Amino acid sequence: MARTAILGLGHYVPSKVVTNDDLAKMFDTSDEWIQQRTGIKERRYIEESGIGASDLAVPAVEMACENAGIEVAEIDAIIFATLSPDFNFPGSGCFLGDKLGLAGVPALDIRNQCSGFLYGLQIADAWIRCGMYERVALVGAEVHSTALDFSDEGRDVTVLFGDGAACAIVGATEDENRGLIDVEVHADGSGAKELWLEGPASAYKPRLTHEMIDNKTVHPAMNGRNVFRWATAKMPEVSQSVLERNGVTVDELDLVVPHQANKRINEFVSQKLQIAPEKVVHNIQKYGNTTAASIPLALSEAVQEGRAKKGDLILMPAFGAGFTWGAALLRL
Ligand code: UT7
Repeated sequence: MARTAILGLGHYVPSKVVTNDDLAKMFDTSDEWIQQRTGIKERRYIEESGIGASDLAVPAVEMACENAGIEVAEIDAIIFATLSPDFNFPGSGCFLGDKLGLAGVPALDIRNQCSGFLYGLQIADAWIRCGMYERVALVGAEVHSTALDFSDEGRDVTVLFGDGAACAIVGATEDENRGLIDVEVHADGSGAKELWLEGPASAYKPRLTHEMIDNKTVHPAMNGRNVFRWATAKMPEVSQSVLERNGVTVDELDLVVPHQANKRINEFVSQKLQIAPEKVVHNIQKYGNTTAASIPLALSEAVQEGRAKKGDLILMPAFGAGFTWGAALLRL
């Protein structure tokens, strides 16, 4: 059976930088509050209307292919993880495939929010190990900025999220010293409404009303304290499970690349697992929470900066809406 590896990584963020002070001009918040509670200093937003998650994904895929040493035309499957698809349907993977000139290449959209990259990695791994596909473009991309509520009411959610994209080219390797070791994912829908975007909804007739707009149903809503509690319980639990199953101790880890939802959550998780702080990658200060893009974006930057190197043993835990959570163990 083939062994799966991340052959190359790429990322892209839009050029528009939005600082905490910029947000404080729009609603009641402050740079101090945001930095203290989340670690975020700034985030990126799309420059103008009309740029979707699939547009952000194009340069990320091109960079990932270059780093993997393959042509874009060699991609034989796309997995597109996003909670903010360009349109309700079809999936962003179809738009992306078209923009990349990949007519006929299968494109699967998955909706697993902050754990989307891990769910996608598990699917790509299974496809590659059974020989179904050879080079999967696993994309995480989000345009959050067009859904946010820029009023006092929405401030708890709005300060957290940013736009961005990243891609991992996942493929087979014969190198015994690298590869994906394990991915474990979970979901518990009892928390579905703790962090969600209710409308427009196919569950309602009509799907969208003026009242829904007035009631702010069209913006994401979150019970932040409860999400925080769950995240700080589930991320260490699933990390421990993956490490124990594979006989790996935290001391053996070279790097931890967690989902970037809140710097405090990741500090809490690493303390609970007794992971040395210098092994934990944070880039939330620059990008906020980019959801499905967050782990591959942080990993891609860590590689670019020389912080993550070939052969490193890396743990990648995540928790997010759904609730969904998981962890992956990778020899880069
Ligand atoms: O990707 C996974 C999804 N998301 C998460 O993992 C997020 C998980 N949750 C969190 O990160 C935190 O709960 C938040 C950062 C969202 C909030 O931090 P907190 O320490 O839990 O604050 P809180 O919700 O308990 O609110 C404390 C105060 C409240 O005021 P009062 O009631 O104490 O007067 C809020 O109204 O802070 C207020 N507040 C704000 N103040 C300034 C809430 N949002 C803001 C804001 N600026 N943006």
